[in-house]
Amino acid sequence: MAKPWRFAVVTMSDKGSRGERIDESGAFLRQFLSEAGLAEAGYRLVPDRVEDIAAAVCAMIDDLGADLVVTTGGTGLAPSDVTPEAMNKVFQREVPGIAEMLRLESLKKTPMAALSRGRAGIRGESLIINLPGSLKAAREDIATLLPIVDHALEKIKGDPSDCGR
Ligand code: MTE
Repeated sequence: MAKPWRFAVVTMSDKGSRGERIDESGAFLRQFLSEAGLAEAGYRLVPDRVEDIAAAVCAMIDDLGADLVVTTGGTGLAPSDVTPEAMNKVFQREVPGIAEMLRLESLKKTPMAALSRGRAGIRGESLIINLPGSLKAAREDIATLLPIVDHALEKIKGDPSDCGR
């Protein structure tokens, strides 16, 4: 990582928020991103409710100054999975290619990857990426993501240099 970017992790889980499930994927992502050289700005575990999700992600950016917010959970097809809908209240611009890349890579491992509706987008000068909720998916997807994070954040923050040179 070129800069000590500040990251936040937000986990969506009704059971986790009631203390009935350990947040394994959130814990993994926090450790992974810290070991990759990013600095933790915040962490929240929230129930699967649009308002709670949107408020938590916005707070990580607007109040705590996270450059990168990685969410985990709530991207699937169950009635309670509302993370993608909550992003309507968070994103100012969508970055479809990141979600496309994650699904493309994940489909090489499991056809179930088609069931994640995760999105990626920009709020202010910060990047938000939705990952599925399982530890396996979080592990696979963050490894796919890491190589593009640095360049994505440089560009979001206005790096004027020409790409691909
Ligand atoms: N992506 C990867 N890389 N690996 C996986 O094992 N599981 C899928 C999918 N994406 C999976 C994956 C499954 S089984 C589901 S149901 C969806 O993510 C949605 O997960 P979520 O509702 O926990 O967010």
